[in-house]
Amino acid sequence: MPDVSVRLVAVGEDRRRTLQNLAQLYLHDLSRTGGWDLRDDGTFDGNLLDGCWTESRRHPFLFYAAESLAGFAVVDRRSHDGGREDVWDMAEFFVVNRWRRAGVGRSAARQLLSAFPGDWEVRPFRGYQPAERFWSSVCAEAASSEVVIDEDQSRADARIIRFSVD
Ligand SMILES: CC(C)(COP(=O)(O)OP(=O)(O)OC[C@H]1O[C@@H](n2cnc3c(N)ncnc32)[C@H](O)[C@@H]1OP(=O)(O)O)[C@@H](O)C(=O)NCCC(=O)NCCS
Repeated sequence: MPDVSVRLVAVGEDRRRTLQNLAQLYLHDLSRTGGWDLRDDGTFDGNLLDGCWTESRRHPFLFYAAESLAGFAVVDRRSHDGGREDVWDMAEFFVVNRWRRAGVGRSAARQLLSAFPGDWEVRPFRGYQPAERFWSSVCAEAASSEVVIDEDQSRADARIIRFSVD
C-alpha cells in the first residue's frame, strides 16, 4: 500500500465523545487478551480518559489517515507507576482496523515521540502480538538510546519498554 498521510490533532474536551467511542473499540480489541467482559449495557468499563480534561500532564490526540478518523493516543507526563514526573508515558494508543498494517501507527507514533523529546516508556500488553511487535519495531527505529525492556511490577499483563528520543 502506498504511504498514507497521517495527521495528528491535539484535542480538548469538545472531542470527549469521539475519544470515548474510540476507547470502546480499543477496549474491545484488547478484551480478548485481557479477558474483560462487557457490562450489561454493551460497553466496557474503563478509565482510560480520566484526567484528560482536568490534568495538564495528560495529552489526548486523534489520528487522521487520508483525512479519515483512524485512531487516538494519550500521552502522559508521568511514568505509569507514578514514580517519575520527567518521563513521557504512551498511556493509550490505538489504530482502527480499517487502517491497520498501512504504516498509520508507525507514522503516528513517530510524530508523537518526536513531539515530546526525552525519556519515554511504552507498555505493550503482554501476549498481544501486534502490540509487542509494533512497539519493538517502532522503538528500535525511534530511540536515540539503548532500548530497555522491564517487567511492569504494577501489572501482571504488561511490559515496559524504556528509551530516549532526542
Ligand atoms: C498495534 C497497532 C497500534 C499497530 O498499528 P498499525 O497502524 O497497524 O501498525 P503499522 O502498520 O504502522 O505497523 C508497523 C510495524 O509494527 C509491526 N506490526 C504491526 N501490526 C502487526 C501485527 N498485527 N502483527 C505483526 N506485526 C505487526 C510490524 O513490524 C509493522 O511493520 P511492517 O508492516 O513493515 O511489517 C494496532 O494493531 C492497534 O491499535 N491494536 C490494538 C490496540 C493496541 O494494541 N495498542 C497498543 C497499546 S499496548
